[in-house]
Amino acid sequence: MMRRFTSISAAALTLACALGASAIAQSQVPTPLGIGRPASQEEIRKLDVDVMPDGTGLPAGRGAVADGASTYAVKCASCHGRSGEGGPFDRLVGRDEGAGFAFANDPRLVKTIGNYWPYATTLFDYTARTMPFAQPGSLTADEVYGLVAYLLSLNGIVPENAVLDQASLAKVVMPARDRFVRDNRTGGSRVR
Ligand code: HEC
Repeated sequence: MMRRFTSISAAALTLACALGASAIAQSQVPTPLGIGRPASQEEIRKLDVDVMPDGTGLPAGRGAVADGASTYAVKCASCHGRSGEGGPFDRLVGRDEGAGFAFANDPRLVKTIGNYWPYATTLFDYTARTMPFAQPGSLTADEVYGLVAYLLSLNGIVPENAVLDQASLAKVVMPARDRFVRDNRTGGSRVR
């Protein structure tokens, strides 16, 4: 009896919420504020970059470690330290995570590009879409290639004279590459 009562109450409550929500939705349709404007095709094109682990989606462009060092000094060092050592925000450089990839067990371990990121292409994708923190999407493809080259070189993954572009970036093998399982879901209800 108690169970039946509970389930009826829950159903009634759900219905009440649904009615309430639709009443609110109708009464609170915002009126246009006269601000904003439609995004231009050019703005959409610049932001519409999805880079996959295998490099699919990387834009044309290229950048050397030295180019990245200059860009980094101006646009990144204030938040990530002069050489990616961190402070005030995330440390970007570091290779030695200790034995066993024990990030889940040891909260003192700091994840960095060099000890944790499985794909160099993700560094491109992330940097292009999110950094610098206050101007996301403002970097050119060449600037991002240079920054990625610089950060990978600070992490000892590419040489100091490296120049990265679509083809060479996709070939970089990260130290933590084999610590992760590739998510091969293709959408829909199929889950591995
Ligand atoms: C105003 C401060 C600021 C600036 C400038 C800035 N960042 Fe960041 N960055 C952050 C913050 C905050 C995070 C953490 C964001 C989060 O966790 O959601 C971050 C995270 C990152 C990460 C991910 C670190 C990790 O392993 O989780 C990378 C890579 C990065 N930034 C690169 C850059 C690069 C390259 C530049 C220069 C183009 C840059 N950032 C400029 C504040 C900044």
